[in-house]
Amino acid sequence: MISDRKLEHLLICKYYDVEFKNKTTGFEDIELIHQALPEINKNDIDLSTSVFGKKMESPLFITAITGGHPVAKDINKNLAIAAEEMNIALGVGSQRAAIEHPELADTYTVVRENAPDCLLVGNIGAPQLNLADKAVEILDADILAIHLNPLQESIQPEGDLDARGFLDSISKICDTVDIPVMAKETGCGISSETAKDLVNAGIDYIDIEGAGGTSWAAVETYRADDRYLGETFWDWGIPTAISTVEVTSSVDVPVISSGGIRNGLEAAKAIALGADAVGMALPFLKESVSVEDIIEYINKFNESLRIAMFLVGANNIEELKNSNLIIKGETKQWLEDRGFNTTKYSRR
Ligand code: FNR
Repeated sequence: MISDRKLEHLLICKYYDVEFKNKTTGFEDIELIHQALPEINKNDIDLSTSVFGKKMESPLFITAITGGHPVAKDINKNLAIAAEEMNIALGVGSQRAAIEHPELADTYTVVRENAPDCLLVGNIGAPQLNLADKAVEILDADILAIHLNPLQESIQPEGDLDARGFLDSISKICDTVDIPVMAKETGCGISSETAKDLVNAGIDYIDIEGAGGTSWAAVETYRADDRYLGETFWDWGIPTAISTVEVTSSVDVPVISSGGIRNGLEAAKAIALGADAVGMALPFLKESVSVEDIIEYINKFNESLRIAMFLVGANNIEELKNSNLIIKGETKQWLEDRGFNTTKYSRR
């Protein structure tokens, strides 16, 4: 039953070690350049952005986590109250459960009830064209995210293994719904090739959800009778820093960098690599027990982003986007082998 699966995912992510083991996001290979004379007032730094259609006080999305189980209702309520108070964006988990089981709808509607003004992101799978309108309506969403998760589908026992026709379905969803449509991975990242296909299909935003944070092969390993497949692919995917460059260098739509981002310094690096905002899921699940904890976490994130901006002399997100940085190590090697110019970031 879909609702039981949602609960298992929540419990596994909350209590087990589900992050990548031997692969990182690559942000340790990105160095912003320290400016000992920033010549700006830290208290005047503006973290806000309006790139995604509504003003957000900081460039942070709580990305898709849950819905579809009574336990999820409390989590979504707490996230919604905190997101509204801090004026950041909030996504919900896949809405298929609520559409197929209307008795679960309140686990999603609780979000808009508690976050009347904040930027809300709905969520469906690529083949679920017939659910698109309903998903937007139930949530009163500002953006509809379409999740891509071929690795998870391959490992989970009830996985959907026929990925033919997804681009066509995505293109129809973009034509059908009258709000912007975002494509998101779930922890394996988006390549340059996929980004171009998505934008050609009509996608408005890309949330890259790269490798280095939550591993869905890991999550499904804990659910499987046999751990072999999950352990084999535990660390599969394009590291988040690399995927950020692959996507932002290849297409001209707003991009969210996500997957393993855990603080404002990593966020600053992602934005200097070209992202317009960042997203996090697992840390918010861990903090979701109380609204106060979530707000405290967002405040710490904001403060660490503000310090990073102060140290590079960036007054706002646009200036941060143009800050110089160095790309080192395996990240540089990957990007050069794939034909990306890594020196363009170092002398702007
Ligand atoms: C997720 N994620 C997710 N994504 C999605 O598009 N639809 C979904 O239903 C879910 N469900 C879900 C449940 C739980 C418990 C977690 C922790 C995550 C994936 C999530 O949005 C994100 O892509 C990854 O978790 C990677 O980001 P982090 O966790 O490394 O910040």
